[in-house]
Amino acid sequence: VGHIDDVQELRRSKPTIIPERFVRDMSERPTLQTTALSSSGSIPIVDFSKLSKGNKDEFQDEISQLATACEEWGFFQVINHGIDWSLLENIEKVCKEFFMQPLEEKQKYPMAPGTVQGYGQAFVFSEDQKLDWCNMFALGIEPQFIRNPILWPKKPANFSETVEDYSKEIRKLGQNLLKYIALSLGLKGDVLDEMFGVAVQAIRMNYYPACSRPDLVLGLSPHSDGSALTILQEGKGSSVGLQILKDNEWVSVRPIPNALVINIGDTIEVLTNGKYKSVEHRAVTHKEKDRFSIVTFYAPSYEIELGPMPELVDENNPCKYRRYNHGEYSKHYVTNKLQGKKALDFAK
Ligand code: SIN
Ligand code: FE2
Repeated sequence: VGHIDDVQELRRSKPTIIPERFVRDMSERPTLQTTALSSSGSIPIVDFSKLSKGNKDEFQDEISQLATACEEWGFFQVINHGIDWSLLENIEKVCKEFFMQPLEEKQKYPMAPGTVQGYGQAFVFSEDQKLDWCNMFALGIEPQFIRNPILWPKKPANFSETVEDYSKEIRKLGQNLLKYIALSLGLKGDVLDEMFGVAVQAIRMNYYPACSRPDLVLGLSPHSDGSALTILQEGKGSSVGLQILKDNEWVSVRPIPNALVINIGDTIEVLTNGKYKSVEHRAVTHKEKDRFSIVTFYAPSYEIELGPMPELVDENNPCKYRRYNHGEYSKHYVTNKLQGKKALDFAK
């Protein structure tokens, strides 16, 4: 894959230089029109407290909001999710502290090519592939066997402990959302949870330094997620960066403070036979402001075989996807470059 410049170092040492490998082809560049905040407003909002402790009417109302969000947007924000704000603050703090360390410190945890754990750029497989204006640090969390202990940073001192505490709470939220998603489909609450086995959970911290030419680069290439659910926390004071493809137009997501942004991944799209959508998204950069995001991926256990659920297939909704092994899907996902919804071709 050749030498990959560290984006943060590049920004620090040559603030106005954009190496050719980061300059996108015309068709991919975020033109002024697409970076402008869209008029179509915000992505749907789901009030978690109405699901977890609302009365019957509030619950039903919120379940239909959730159904609409999953069908029409594939993205929503969860408010009142019940996760302590101090956990959100702490993870943000260690994330920032980690990225602000000298390069040598971060490079003690290198991401090996073709893997998605450690520090570096994932999804890079050839020298002519365009690079994202982003530094990543990622770790497998659950089940334990996916952890690679040598990649867990020693600095900042409370990094590992903070990631553990945060991930436990996020896992519960993921499980609960999965339950409500099943209910919103008219299914029993535990069907997805039971099908998933011991769910795979991973965390990825993305750091997008400011860029002198945000019109030429992308923070993160367009893609849909290979997970079942993705839970994103936006860094406070970050620039707006996440964009989703809605009706063929790139729409910016402006997170509500302390809310979490949830999106449907490829697994749920397959299981629901396309009823719930895994929507293409990307990140753009900002001329003056840095941005970071903390992303949790929640997915079935690797040995699980899955395909469209029979309840979601009928004459009007013919089966769109084949059955496959989720571990093979994951492998396929992480060994190919991010390219819109192309990874899903694997399931066709
Ligand atoms: C992602 O899609 O994994 C992260 C996008 C973002 O940083 O907003
Ligand atoms: Fe994503």
